[in-house]
Amino acid sequence: MSLSGLEGRRVIVCCGSGGVGKTTISAGIALALANRGARVAVVTIDPARRLAAALGLAELGDDPRQVPIGPTGGSGELWALQLDAKATFDRLVCRHAPTPEAAERILANRIYAHLSGAVAGSQEYMAVERLNELTDDPRFEVVVLDTPPAQNALDFLDAPTRITHFIEGKSLRMLLSPGAAAGNLGWRMLHAGSSTVFSILERVTGAQLLRDLSEFLGAFDGMYTGFSERAERVRTLLHSPRAAFVVVSSADDEPVREAVMLVERLTADGYPLGPAVMNRIRPRADLPPPPRHALVEALAGAGATHADDLADRTLAQLADDEARARRDHDACTRLARLLGDREPVQVPDFADEPVEIAGLEHVADALAR
Ligand SMILES: Nc1ncnc2c1ncn2[C@@H]1O[C@H](COP(=O)(O)OP(=O)(O)OP(=O)(O)O)[C@@H](O)[C@H]1O
Ligand SMILES: [Mg+2]
Repeated sequence: MSLSGLEGRRVIVCCGSGGVGKTTISAGIALALANRGARVAVVTIDPARRLAAALGLAELGDDPRQVPIGPTGGSGELWALQLDAKATFDRLVCRHAPTPEAAERILANRIYAHLSGAVAGSQEYMAVERLNELTDDPRFEVVVLDTPPAQNALDFLDAPTRITHFIEGKSLRMLLSPGAAAGNLGWRMLHAGSSTVFSILERVTGAQLLRDLSEFLGAFDGMYTGFSERAERVRTLLHSPRAAFVVVSSADDEPVREAVMLVERLTADGYPLGPAVMNRIRPRADLPPPPRHALVEALAGAGATHADDLADRTLAQLADDEARARRDHDACTRLARLLGDREPVQVPDFADEPVEIAGLEHVADALAR
């Protein structure tokens, strides 16, 4: 990519199927850009501590933390953080609730506790909110987003729509009563806190659930537009030339298939593509294997006891390595063809796991080559 495909972008999203190296490549891209003088934040949605491990840190939290790197081209800085959906949501509520009292009521509400902690999609939705915050943060010029291992790698792009629907209460109203969903009458009575209906239902259910629900929706009144607006802002940013999606793959069949599907979906949905990255590519040998007799002679000369046997095993290993390397190379060619002859960037399969800044420098170098 010579990184040229990525310079000047505000947001870079790394996606791809499970285990192909998204976290490693995200950290590598962030480091490469920081080395070139950019102030970069790399953020992971994955609650597993892979990003922290890749950067050689004991842990990462919601607060961006600066990672020491070598001398950079200018003012380059590398920062890292791990999404904390609940902390992000709490911050949002405090910032956007109409009054501090309303914020407090929302934070103390049990429905809220479930929504912010457990509702499917809230993690991804909060990632979108966090992106908004980070791209507004003057400390960072670039935000690199490491997406989690998801069934559908692009789930998080749908999250804003899903969650706004949820907050707008459609599903909650359905839950509340079928009549409420149909005619809205039952709902409005509850929402207004009609004490008779309320107390009867509460006695019947024996729970405070309904009061919580009513209060929750009441407290969110007036905040819906803010949520939708911010979701729209992120959607616009992610569709603009200031964003780039980097699809990461390994040479295995399934990840290549997934990468092609991702590229097709991103293109169809109008998202800007950055370079594709083929990770863990084994290099082709520079030289043909030595003739057997020469190898046996050399090994015997070096004092090997079973030179014949050793030579055979060495040649078998070399042939095996070459077959794998050829397969990786073919996968790159196939992906390039499927992507309309856009050559993917190749990152070698390193013998040592590319962790800590020293290890990630190798990834950054490969990406910049
Ligand atoms: N080029 C490479 N050479 C050697 N090891 C690598 C390379 N890239 C990644 N790895 C190793 O492969 C493992 C998986 O990498 P990583 O965690 O980056 O993948 P991921 O796509 O983020 O996985 P997940 O889908 O679980 O989030 C890690 O142990 C990582 O150190
Ligand atoms: Mg990962």
